[in-house]
Amino acid sequence: MPATILDGTRIAQEIRSEVAAEVKTMAAAGVRPGLAVVLVGHNPASEIYVRGKVKACQEVGLYSEQLTPPESATTAELLAVIEDLNRRDDIDGILVQLPLPAQVDAKKVLMAVDPAKDVDGFHPVNVGFLSTQRPGLVPCTPAGVLEILKRSNIPIAGREAVVVGRSDIVGKPAAMLLLNANATVTVCHSKTHDLPRVCRRADILVAAIGRAGMITRDFVKPGATVIDVGMNTVTDPAEFQRFFSGNSKREENFRKKGSTLIGDVHPEVAEIAGALTPVPGGVGPLTIAMLMFNTVKAAKMRRGSRVPELSRA
Ligand code: GUN
Repeated sequence: MPATILDGTRIAQEIRSEVAAEVKTMAAAGVRPGLAVVLVGHNPASEIYVRGKVKACQEVGLYSEQLTPPESATTAELLAVIEDLNRRDDIDGILVQLPLPAQVDAKKVLMAVDPAKDVDGFHPVNVGFLSTQRPGLVPCTPAGVLEILKRSNIPIAGREAVVVGRSDIVGKPAAMLLLNANATVTVCHSKTHDLPRVCRRADILVAAIGRAGMITRDFVKPGATVIDVGMNTVTDPAEFQRFFSGNSKREENFRKKGSTLIGDVHPEVAEIAGALTPVPGGVGPLTIAMLMFNTVKAAKMRRGSRVPELSRA
C-alpha cells in the first residue's frame, strides 16, 4: 500500500487560521504583534522567502516591517539595526534572513537579537531553553515537523526517531523536540557508519541533509513515517529522469520551468513508507506558519500573558 501523504499545506493553513483568531482577540485588547524582517542585500532566494513571510503577516493580521540594509553592510551597522529593533515596543519578533554577506559576523548579529524577540529560536538562550524544556521560542522548521506529526496523530513517545542532519537550524532542534516528546532519538551525519542500517531502525525518520533524493528505499523500515525537510532544485534533465521518469505531471512542469523541487527523500520511498511528507507541500509551508505562531507567542510572553498552545501530543 503506498504511503499516506501528509498534507503540509492543509496543516499550515489550519495553524494560520488559529493564529489569525488569536491576533483578532489580541486586537480587541489593543495589542497588535509586530514582526521585523531584516533582509541584507539581494539574495534572490532570500527575497522570495521574505516576500512570503511579509504576505503571511498581512494575511493573519500581524504588523510587519521589512528592513533592507545594503549588500555592503558591516557587522557594526547590522548590530545598530538590531539594537534599534530590540528597543522598539511595537516590534515583538525580529528575524534576520540568512545567509548574511561574507563580511558580516553572522553569529555576532544573531547573538545581538533580544532572546524574547528571537522568533527564529537561534539565540543560545532559546537553544538552552529548548534543551532544558523551559518555555521559549523554538526554531520554526523543526517546530513545524512536530506539528505535522502531532496533527497527523502519529505517536512519538517511546518510538525510535532518527534525524539525518545535525544543523543548528533543523537537525539539532528537531532531535531535541523529539526527545522532549519522549522519542528515542538518534542523530546521524556525514560520518555515520552504515547510514541505511541506522535509518532502518526509525519509526520516524527526519531527513534534513540537503541532498536531492539521498534517502532511498533501503533506508526505510516498511510502514515508517518519513518527514522530508529537504528543498533541492534539480535542473539537470538526466537527474530529473532518475527521480521522476514516468511522472507525467512532473515532466510537464519540468519542461515548462526547466527545474523542479525535490526533497532529500527519493520518490520510490512512497512505496514503502507508512506516511510521507511531499516536496513541495510538506514541511515547507509549516515554516512560515510557525513563524506567525512564534510572533504571537513572543508578543504574549513579552507581556507576561498566557502563551498560546498548539496541538497537544
Ligand atoms: N534562511 C533559510 N532558512 C531560514 C530560516 O529559517 N530563518 C532565517 N532567518 N533565514 C533562513
